[in-house]
Amino acid sequence: MMHCVTCSAPVNIAVVKYWGKNDETLILPANSSVSVTLHQDQLQAQTSVAVSHHFEKDRIWLNGKEQCINNPRIQNVIREIKRRARKRKVSSRDTDTEKLNWKIHICSKNNFPTAAGLASSAAGYACLVYALKCLYDIDGDISAIARCGSGSACRSIHGGFVVWNKGEENDGTDSIARQIQPHTHWPDLRVLILVVNEQKKHTGSTEGMQITMKTSELLQGRIRCVPDKVEKINQAINDRDFQTFAEITMKDSNQMHACCLDTYPPISYLTDVSRRIIQLVHHFNRSCQQTKVAYTFDAGPNACLFLLKKDVQRFLHLVKQFFPPTTEEKDFIRGKTEELTETVSNGNEEDRSYFPLDPVADSLKYIIYTMPGPGPQELPPDQSLLDKDGLPKTLS
Ligand code: PMV
Repeated sequence: MMHCVTCSAPVNIAVVKYWGKNDETLILPANSSVSVTLHQDQLQAQTSVAVSHHFEKDRIWLNGKEQCINNPRIQNVIREIKRRARKRKVSSRDTDTEKLNWKIHICSKNNFPTAAGLASSAAGYACLVYALKCLYDIDGDISAIARCGSGSACRSIHGGFVVWNKGEENDGTDSIARQIQPHTHWPDLRVLILVVNEQKKHTGSTEGMQITMKTSELLQGRIRCVPDKVEKINQAINDRDFQTFAEITMKDSNQMHACCLDTYPPISYLTDVSRRIIQLVHHFNRSCQQTKVAYTFDAGPNACLFLLKKDVQRFLHLVKQFFPPTTEEKDFIRGKTEELTETVSNGNEEDRSYFPLDPVADSLKYIIYTMPGPGPQELPPDQSLLDKDGLPKTLS
């Protein structure tokens, strides 16, 4: 007898960033954060979890390769889910209780390259927690469990626009994510992810946050002004006020990266190409005499841009002028390309006086065109990544 569940979960991009922990074990953030969940058609983690009395040990496969299951964060997640399931065992059937003692097989993959440097751990942990919730039939909030895998994963438990409240309790019970608005609330909001070509390996977010917490004076100032930003961006989302949303998003990204530079020794995630993207966005907004595009950067050089559907074509045309691709258009722009009615290269040249930038070829790998999307979902059994013996259908 084997019980198997397969689920998918999305990536999320913070518009008010989480940077710094008050508790490293419980993953309690120094400040609240706000994010947009991206559509799973373009970016998604998929996970199958199975339990059987035939399995000899717990095992996990990530992107086709077996990994050590003793990773403390994975263990924390499994332990917490089982604790919650046992709590409601009184009301559950005998088979449910038995399932809790069986060994577990976990198989997970992303539909996007991990090399793209996108928040794959957030989607991965959210997917694992959601699949375990379905498998053990748990009720109530699970964002706090996802948080114990990777902080930002708690926001991927919901679709649309999400706030992660830092919480006040020492045990982290109120450090949870909740939805501000579903993805359908702002139907013409679009997202472009500009994947930057780079070789450099940068400091991971866990380590980066630790050093910033210890050494940056600026971070203390940032932590004080976050509550006001959270309130204002919440309102801007409710009102679909793009100007305010965009301005807070850009300023908050700049502030987080300023704190990284204020860290000693300094951490710089942005590269020359990232900075050129920032310049291009500001020049574009100036030429439109309106804020039409917003950028934000996580712990890496890739840009995540927000804009409205009506402005995508014109902005993409500009991106191609200043970052000329060396690949064909179909490889360069991926995702929701059905919305691009004309090839992006056919358009009027922008007034160059607004753009004092020289084109640099081959500095972008590719662009993902996407939009806000829904939260995790359970998938039909035929989409399982595990076969009838509980082993991965494909390995790499
Ligand atoms: O959850 P982590 O440890 O991957 O940290 C995420 C940190 C940022 O992506 C830079 C900001 C955020 O809020 O997602």
